[in-house]
Amino acid sequence: MSGGSGLAGSPLAARRSPRFATLPPLALYIHIPWCVRKCPYCDFNSHEARGGMPEQEYVSALIADLDQALPLVWGRRVYSVFIGGGTPSLFSPQAMDAILSAVRARLPLASDAEITLEANPGTFEAEKFRQFRATGINRLSVGIQSFNPAHLKALGRIHDETEARRAIEIARANFDNFNLDLMYGLPQQTVADACADIEAAIGFAPPHLSAYHLTIEPNTYFHRFPPRLPDDDAAAAMQAAIEALLAEHGYEHYETSAFARPGAPAEGAAGSNDLELTDAIPKSGGSAPDPAGDARLRGRIPPTHIPDLSPKGREEARAPLLLPGEGSGMRDRAPAPRSDARCRHNLNYWTFGDYLGIGAGAHSKLSFPDRIVRQVRCKQPKQYMTSAAEGSAIRQEREVSASEVGFEFMMNALRLTEGFAAGLFAERAGVPLNAVLKELDLAERRGLIARDHLRIAPTPLGQRFLNDLLQIFLGEPAHAGNS
Ligand SMILES: C[S@@+](CC[C@H](N)C(=O)[O-])C[C@H]1O[C@@H](n2cnc3c(N)ncnc32)[C@H](O)[C@@H]1O
Ligand code: SF4
Repeated sequence: MSGGSGLAGSPLAARRSPRFATLPPLALYIHIPWCVRKCPYCDFNSHEARGGMPEQEYVSALIADLDQALPLVWGRRVYSVFIGGGTPSLFSPQAMDAILSAVRARLPLASDAEITLEANPGTFEAEKFRQFRATGINRLSVGIQSFNPAHLKALGRIHDETEARRAIEIARANFDNFNLDLMYGLPQQTVADACADIEAAIGFAPPHLSAYHLTIEPNTYFHRFPPRLPDDDAAAAMQAAIEALLAEHGYEHYETSAFARPGAPAEGAAGSNDLELTDAIPKSGGSAPDPAGDARLRGRIPPTHIPDLSPKGREEARAPLLLPGEGSGMRDRAPAPRSDARCRHNLNYWTFGDYLGIGAGAHSKLSFPDRIVRQVRCKQPKQYMTSAAEGSAIRQEREVSASEVGFEFMMNALRLTEGFAAGLFAERAGVPLNAVLKELDLAERRGLIARDHLRIAPTPLGQRFLNDLLQIFLGEPAHAGNS
C-alpha cells in the first residue's frame, strides 16, 4: 500500500522512516480484559470472567510487562494513565494500588497526571470507589450507554437504570473529574429517546460526556444477528439533536464523539506541568498548541482498534525492532497546560502523541529519533500472562513508514473539531507537511478542511464525512463535497 502521501519523486521517497528533533508526550494505557458478561455489540478485547479473574497473576504480568518495556521509554515522563477494558472496576482497589505503585516506582509520573479508570454500573460500591480514589486515580469514565430500561436490555447491559444513576452518584461523590459514556442509534431508539438520555446525563453535570453512534462490528453477536437499527437519516438527526442539546448546556464539542465542560474540574484535568521541559517548549510559532486527546476510531482511539496498515504488519511475531537500552535520551514535549475537562489521555492519541500500552492485546506507539514503532501485545489473557512471565508479551511489532505516517496522523488529528496547528504535523509525524500537500489541496477543494499557515481543521462537512476525508490521505477517492 503506498499510503498515497505524495512522496513519489520527492526527496522523502528515499526516506523510509520519520525523523524527530523532539519526542511527543508519552501516555500509559493499561488493559484489563475481563467483564461480567460480553455485550452483544462489543468487539473490545474483553472476556467473560466465568469462575473469577486471576487478579494477582494478572497484576504480576502487567508489572513484568512494564519492566520489559522500560528500556524503550527510559527517562520519559508520563502525563496520563488510562486503565481501560473490559471492566477494570471489577479489580480490587488493592490491585489498582499495586499497579499504580509499580508504575510510579518505574516511570516519572507528572505530578498532575490524569489517571482514568473505566468503570461499569453494576460494579459500583461506594467504599470501593472511595478506595480507588485513594490509589491516586483521579478520573472515572463510567459506561452508562442509556438510561432507558428497554435500550439497556437490548444492549445486554448488566445494569438497569437505577444502578446507572446510583453509579453516577458514587462517581460524583468521590471524583471531581468524571466522564459518562452514552451510545445513540440504538435498536428501536427515536430522536426523543436519544435526547432524553442526554438530558438525563446532563442532569448529573458531568465534566465530560462521550456520545458514540452504535456501530455493528464484525465478530460480535449483533453482527451475526443484526438488530433493527434507526436508519442513517434518523441517526444523523439524533447526532444533530445531541450536539445541539449539549451546546445549549455549555458543553464544547471538541472531538467527533467527545464533549467537555469549560473550566477545569478541581483535580486531574487542570495543570501546571511541573516540568523543567516546559521551558524548552516554544510558546508560539507553529509548534503544537496542545496535545489534546483520547481516541479510537469511534470515540476513543481504542488502542485495540488502530488498523495495521501494512500487510506485513499482520504477520505475527516479527523480528524485534527495538533493542534493550534503546531509550532515546532525547527530550520529549510536555503537553500544554489545560484548564478544561477535555480528556488529556485521549487528546494525546488525537494529537499523535506516544503511548505505551501494557496488558492483553494492548497497542503501543513509540517514537524514536529515527522512527515510529507500533507494538501489539498477546491478545488472550492466559497467553499474555504466560508470555509476560516468560519475558515478552509482544506479538507484533512494526515500523511506521514515512509514506503511511501522514494518514495515521490525519486519522487522529482530523477528529478534533478545532483541528491542529500546522507545525504539529512535522513535530509528531516526523516528516514535513509538504509530504501531504497534494492531499491537503484536494481536501480543501472538496470543502472538507479549512486551513491557513497556522492551523488545519475539518470543516463541518469534513467532520460529517470524516471517512471520506481520511480516504484522501489513503489515496482513495472521496465522495463527499465538491470535486
Ligand atoms: C471499552 S468500552 C467499555 C467500557 C465499559 N466496559 C462499559 O461497557 O461500560 C468504552 C465505550 O465504548 C463504547 N462502545 C463500545 N462498543 C461500541 C460500539 N459497538 N459502538 C459504539 N460505541 C461502542 C461504549 O460507550 C463504551 O462505554
Ligand atoms: S461494552 Fe464494556 S462491559 Fe460490555 S463487553 Fe465490552 S468492555 Fe465489557
